[in-house]
Amino acid sequence: MRPVIPFVSESEGVEREAWISALPEGLQDIGVVKPFADLTEDERRAAKVAIVANPSPAEVARLPNLEWVHSLWAGVERLASELPPDGPKIVRLTDPQMAATMSEAVLAWTLYLHRDMPRYARQQPRKIWLEHALKTPDQRTVGILGLGKLGSASALRLKANGFNVCGWSRSPKQLDGVETFSGASGLSDLLARSDILVLLVPLTDATRGLVSREEVARLPKGASLINFARGPILDTAALVEALDSGRLDHAVLDVFNTEPLPADSPLWSHEKITVLPHISAPTITHTAVKIVAHNIRRYLETGEIPESVDRIRGY
Ligand code: NAP
Ligand code: GLV
Repeated sequence: MRPVIPFVSESEGVEREAWISALPEGLQDIGVVKPFADLTEDERRAAKVAIVANPSPAEVARLPNLEWVHSLWAGVERLASELPPDGPKIVRLTDPQMAATMSEAVLAWTLYLHRDMPRYARQQPRKIWLEHALKTPDQRTVGILGLGKLGSASALRLKANGFNVCGWSRSPKQLDGVETFSGASGLSDLLARSDILVLLVPLTDATRGLVSREEVARLPKGASLINFARGPILDTAALVEALDSGRLDHAVLDVFNTEPLPADSPLWSHEKITVLPHISAPTITHTAVKIVAHNIRRYLETGEIPESVDRIRGY
């Protein structure tokens, strides 16, 4: 008999509907995918693996015999902080298509900043005809915090487009043509040379508040910032102060402390901030379903669980 595989998610609307139609079809040879609310008591007890998309940890806890959960998201900070350390293993989504999508977004918004688009957009309603000096990409250094699946793909894509690229990670890394840094002094060095800073580290105890007032102050005058990671990694008040004082030029924010960004947030109307609704690298349903199906099939056949989150490091 095919096992029942719970699907646990707090996503709503189109996203939820997409998963509820794609998962059962993509896994039909392997098991029966059922939303958490439709599970019987016996099915909840029997489940050894569940598929999750930003789930309520309380619902995951109501599947008492889970060995692991397969996330449809790359960032799993909520599960990592709320599931007990001896709870199910957490396997996050690692999808080459997501890395390609994120690197496309990093390139697109880097070009937006590099070609001074926010400045020209501000000039238009004021009918200002004013040209600003053009820099070539090799005169611009982009610093990336996080050189994992998404950060390294982004670094290589920026490099291929002529930018000077440097990156920072927890452990030392080598990446073709990219100057790499690690550790606290490495962070200072990277910040000091980043004309555009891109945040792509996971949210953990060590990265919460990582880009605080002190780090923002280390960026060169006129620098810009892109946060595609998670809101709490960045001190938003320090960012806004630096933008208001003219020290920093512009920020592109895709992630926030509270999402959706509340309607009364001043960030919405700040002329030096571009607000995006967490869209830089959404999970692509058709590629993700194939990866999830492959991983769960292998587990059911061999017992092998894919590489999971290190619960001490938090990612
Ligand atoms: P990943 O492969 O796990 O890479 C994480 C990188 O961050 C690694 O290079 C890691 O260093 C580094 N890092 C972690 N903690 C650090 C610390 N304390 N100090 C310095 N470096 C640290 O993660 P990923 O797949 O690239 O994803 C990164 C994040 O992007 C996700 O966690 C998620 O929050 C975010 N994301 C956002 C969107 C969006 O649409 N906005 C979409 C997908 C993902 P090591 O190499 O030494 O391990
Ligand atoms: C999206 O933010 C993800 O973590 O996959």
